[in-house]
Amino acid sequence: MRSILAFVGSPRRGGNSDILVQHAAEAAKEAGATVEVCYLNEMDYRGCQGCLGCKRGDACVLEDDLTPIYDKIHGADAVIFASPIYFNDVSGQMKCFLDRWYAFWDAEYQKRLEPGKRGLIILPYEAGRETMYDGLLERHIGLLRGMGLTDVTGFTVAGVRHKGDILSKPEALAKAAESGRKLAED
Ligand SMILES: Cc1cc2nc3c(=O)[nH]c(=O)nc-3n(C[C@H](O)[C@H](O)[C@H](O)COP(=O)(O)O)c2cc1C
Repeated sequence: MRSILAFVGSPRRGGNSDILVQHAAEAAKEAGATVEVCYLNEMDYRGCQGCLGCKRGDACVLEDDLTPIYDKIHGADAVIFASPIYFNDVSGQMKCFLDRWYAFWDAEYQKRLEPGKRGLIILPYEAGRETMYDGLLERHIGLLRGMGLTDVTGFTVAGVRHKGDILSKPEALAKAAESGRKLAED
């Protein structure tokens, strides 16, 4: 059975990022995976402190709500990242979380994560232009491959502002479900 960890970078429970993750999670569960969803805004953690403790030792030395998450990521087969676009980037919650992935490199910048893990990035936003954040998506796909995920995909969804706007975009919900299903496949 494949295990999937999902991180929601929006502070809005029931918002567009959350709904997309729920669709991906439900489809993955139907395909036999286990899914745990983590709401970053409800967790107590700081961004990377740049102390390089993870280079002197073998793990991040900060002790906070991300401490148990490192082991969960080591144990997961796939990781989902969903974040609204805030000021042309991922949310601050997601950015601080991703900076903490620095601990997945050792002192020689070798990857600490076992190869073979999948990743899925989902980025909803308000602006209407469909390709507007393709570059941002590609940058994060590259970043996560560099951090040690092997097979990373993702998609953006334009034109969603209010909580639940995504429900009027069945093609985006279907894409989330299909992506979730793929994470659960052998
Ligand atoms: C602080 C803030 C900054 C935002 N910046 C952008 C932006 O740069 N581009 C954009 O298209 N939408 C922007 N938005 C709109 C959100 O991306 C949009 O409402 C999204 O659907 C929210 O997702 P959620 O429901 O998961 O919270 C911003 C919203 C907020 C609150």
